[in-house]
Amino acid sequence: MIQAFIFDLDGVIVDTAKYHFIAWRRMANSLGFDFTEAQNEQLKGVSRKESLGLILEWGGVAKSEAEQEALATQKNEWYREYILQMDESEILEGVVPFLDAAEAAGLKLGLGSSSKNATAILQQIGLASRFGTIIDGNKHTRSKPDPEVFQLGASALGVAPSECVVFEDAEKGVDAAIAGGFTAVGVGGENLSHAHMVIPGFQSLTPQDVLVRLSSRAAQNL
Ligand code: G6P
Ligand code: MG
Repeated sequence: MIQAFIFDLDGVIVDTAKYHFIAWRRMANSLGFDFTEAQNEQLKGVSRKESLGLILEWGGVAKSEAEQEALATQKNEWYREYILQMDESEILEGVVPFLDAAEAAGLKLGLGSSSKNATAILQQIGLASRFGTIIDGNKHTRSKPDPEVFQLGASALGVAPSECVVFEDAEKGVDAAIAGGFTAVGVGGENLSHAHMVIPGFQSLTPQDVLVRLSSRAAQNL
């Protein structure tokens, strides 16, 4: 019996991947190389430190720990210039009605994100008070595909992973949900076919649609 929904933020509630991409690219360009939008896909759900490691690897550039720290800080300053301009118009279509309906149906709502900027973004877009718990990148240490972020979210909401649906746009996020024993719904994105169910987005979708599709899938697997 599903009691709670836990949402990833970037790519599920807002499209911040474009801002991460611009800021990381600016950093890469300043070091004399570039990377593609397809490579950027691999950074979804991945922590800032690990993303930097991957990008430097793509550019064939080696940096000391201290230099990496400075580069990550610089990238984050550029990224924050974008996110501090965000407002509720950037909430992806259908998300607010979906949250409203889930709340009205008595489901508990949580947020589980690798981003240390998640709380600031939720405040910018006016959704910070909608979640019973917000587990952001400051509150956990093991990055997706480790399930820690969702486990902390479920325990803060007082539910078991088996009672919880996780909405994720990143391959590693779906991996994390499955590893933790959650039901995973892939949202848009690529390489999500291992999720229990995939949706293009939240437009015209109700929590009941999700629960019915999940339970008929579970029944077919019996
Ligand atoms: C999310 C995004 C990643 C990002 C990570 C850390 O998971 O999908 O692309 O690298 O958060 O974000 P932060 O805001 O802490 O740099
Ligand atoms: Mg995401």
